[in-house]
Amino acid sequence: MDLGLAGKQALVLGASRGLGAASARALALEGAQVIAVARSTETTQRWRDALPANIGARIHPLKIDLTQRAQVDELVEQATRIGPTDILVNNGGGPPPGAAASMPLEQWTHYFEIMAAHLFHLTGRLLPSMLERGWGRIISIASSGVEQPIPNLALSNAVRAALLGWSKTLAGEVAARGVTVNVVLPGRIHTDRVDELDQAAAEKQGKSRAQVAHESANSIPAARYGRPEEFGDVIAFLASTRASYVTGAKIRVDGGMIRSI
Ligand SMILES: NC(=O)c1ccc[n+]([C@@H]2O[C@H](COP(=O)([O-])OP(=O)(O)OC[C@H]3O[C@@H](n4cnc5c(N)ncnc54)[C@H](OP(=O)(O)O)[C@@H]3O)[C@@H](O)[C@H]2O)c1
Repeated sequence: MDLGLAGKQALVLGASRGLGAASARALALEGAQVIAVARSTETTQRWRDALPANIGARIHPLKIDLTQRAQVDELVEQATRIGPTDILVNNGGGPPPGAAASMPLEQWTHYFEIMAAHLFHLTGRLLPSMLERGWGRIISIASSGVEQPIPNLALSNAVRAALLGWSKTLAGEVAARGVTVNVVLPGRIHTDRVDELDQAAAEKQGKSRAQVAHESANSIPAARYGRPEEFGDVIAFLASTRASYVTGAKIRVDGGMIRSI
């Protein structure tokens, strides 16, 4: 299936590692030019350099700290200088663990700002050009925790629910103008972030990380963690011309982890 991504310009946030890197790689393999954003460009350069040269040449690492509002605006300027953005993948680092009952106000406001408001703002700045050209893809990476809250991840469960409400609202506003807006919900895809969370759980429960990971994988119907490339392929499809009638959706990539229909 030709995904029709050759020559499209994608902006992928949080792309030095994990789900963002896998998404950037999948888009580049399908022919897109990808601006890969993270605080570290060296990490992106390492995985880029491992790709065949013609595909690696489609990856453009960009050093931006998405917690800084001024840098979010700078990102729009820099990306637009390279060309108009066709595909935006909203992503970034996850928040620290913690209980809902004891979360300080400063943490709620800080993480709402960086995990929601900055992404809404960035999208709003890139959207007019997509609407003018009658084509765009806005894909946000959230978490299975928006459907089934993950214990002790109150910030992630709560703030990402806002991302869903925003995404669904925006999808309705732009659907007739060729721009699709979707959210992807990873379950447990094996990245650095999942290793860190397993380590935190292991320390809390007095177990080894391997033991926590084993139990966690066995609680998933697929009986394993997902591979980042399995996640990246779903992003590439949603970004494609072939996914033109998929909008306002939340797509699980979780090996059957969420049990509800
Ligand atoms: N993996 C899963 O199964 C899973 C499940 C549910 C939800 N999620 C969520 O999905 C997102 C991606 O997950 P992941 O597993 O790929 O996480 P990860 O391995 O921690 O990678 C996070 C990426 O975001 C970048 N990043 C972090 N802070 C940033 C900042 N201030 N500015 C710019 N870039 C920043 C990191 O690069 P630098 O450090 O170089 O900046 C890295 O490339 C996270 O929010 C995570 O909580 C993941």
